[in-house]
Amino acid sequence: MTDQDYVLGTHAAEVARLGFQHRVWRSIVLECWRKAGIRLGHRVIDVGAGPGFATIDLAELVGPRGEVLAVERSGRFLEVSAAACAARDLSNVRFRSMDLMKESLGVTGFDAAWCRWVACFVSSPATMVGRIADALHPGGVAIFHEYLNYATWQFAPRRPALERFVAKVMASWRAAGGEPDVARELPALLPAAGLRIRHVRPHVFTVTPQDYIWEWPASFIEVNLARLLELGRVTTDWVESVRLEFQQAAADPATLMTTPLLLEIVAERQ
Ligand SMILES: C[S@@+](CC[C@H](N)C(=O)[O-])C[C@H]1O[C@@H](n2cnc3c(N)ncnc32)[C@H](O)[C@@H]1O
Repeated sequence: MTDQDYVLGTHAAEVARLGFQHRVWRSIVLECWRKAGIRLGHRVIDVGAGPGFATIDLAELVGPRGEVLAVERSGRFLEVSAAACAARDLSNVRFRSMDLMKESLGVTGFDAAWCRWVACFVSSPATMVGRIADALHPGGVAIFHEYLNYATWQFAPRRPALERFVAKVMASWRAAGGEPDVARELPALLPAAGLRIRHVRPHVFTVTPQDYIWEWPASFIEVNLARLLELGRVTTDWVESVRLEFQQAAADPATLMTTPLLLEIVAERQ
C-alpha cells in the first residue's frame, strides 16, 4: 500500500485542490451536517478524511467534549491534517492510518460518519458501507456525498476535448478499481448494512466563467491533466488540446459549465 494508490495523488497540488474544493462546498456541507443532527459533544468519523479540511470543521462543530476520528490510508494526508489540527489547537481529533478495504473501523457507538468522495475510489463500496454501519449506534447517521452521474460535467457550447477529458478521468478511476457513479449503488447497499435512508438531495451547479464555483472544476482539470500524464494515460499533445479548449471556454463569457451531479444521502442505523 502506498500513497500512489489514491488515483488522484497526494502531492501538494492535490492538497491545495482538496482545500479549495472544500471551500466551494463548505456552506452546503455545514447545512447538511446541521440537518443530519450533528451537535456539540457528538462523536463523528471522517471516513477517508484526506488532508483534513472537513475534519477541522467537524472538530469545531462537535467541540472539545466531542470527538472526530479521521481515518485515512495516505500517511501524507494524515500528516497534513494533524499539522493543521495542531495549528488550531484542536485536541479532539484522533487519526487512524488504515485501508478501509482491509480493516474494520475498530470503533463502535459513534453518532455519525461523514463520507465524501471516498466510496467512488474503493474496490468494494459494500464493505465500506458495512464497516461504517458497524461503527454507529442505532439512530446514528451515515452521511454520504458521492457522485450520481459524473458525466453531467458538460459545457455549453459543447467542448469535445473536455468531453474526452471527463471520459478519461472516469476510465482512470475505474482502472484503479473505483466507480465514479457510485451513488447509484448506495441505495441498494445501505439497507443491506442496516441503514435506512432518511433523506436524499441532489447537488449540481451550472456556472459561467465569472462564477467562484468555476474555479473548482478548473483546478481539477489542471491538477488531473498533470496526474493523467504522470500515470502515462495521456500524451502531452492530448493534455495541450484539453488545456487550450478549456482556456477558450473560460475566455467566452457565454460559456455555461454544468458540474458532475452529486447525491447527498443521510441514512440512519437501525
Ligand atoms: C477525493 S479524496 C476526498 C478526501 C475528503 N473526504 C474530502 O472530502 O476532502 C479521497 C480520499 O479517500 C482516501 N481513500 C481512498 N481509498 C481509501 C481506502 N481504501 N482506505 C482509506 N482511505 C482511502 C484517499 O486517500 C483520499 O484521501
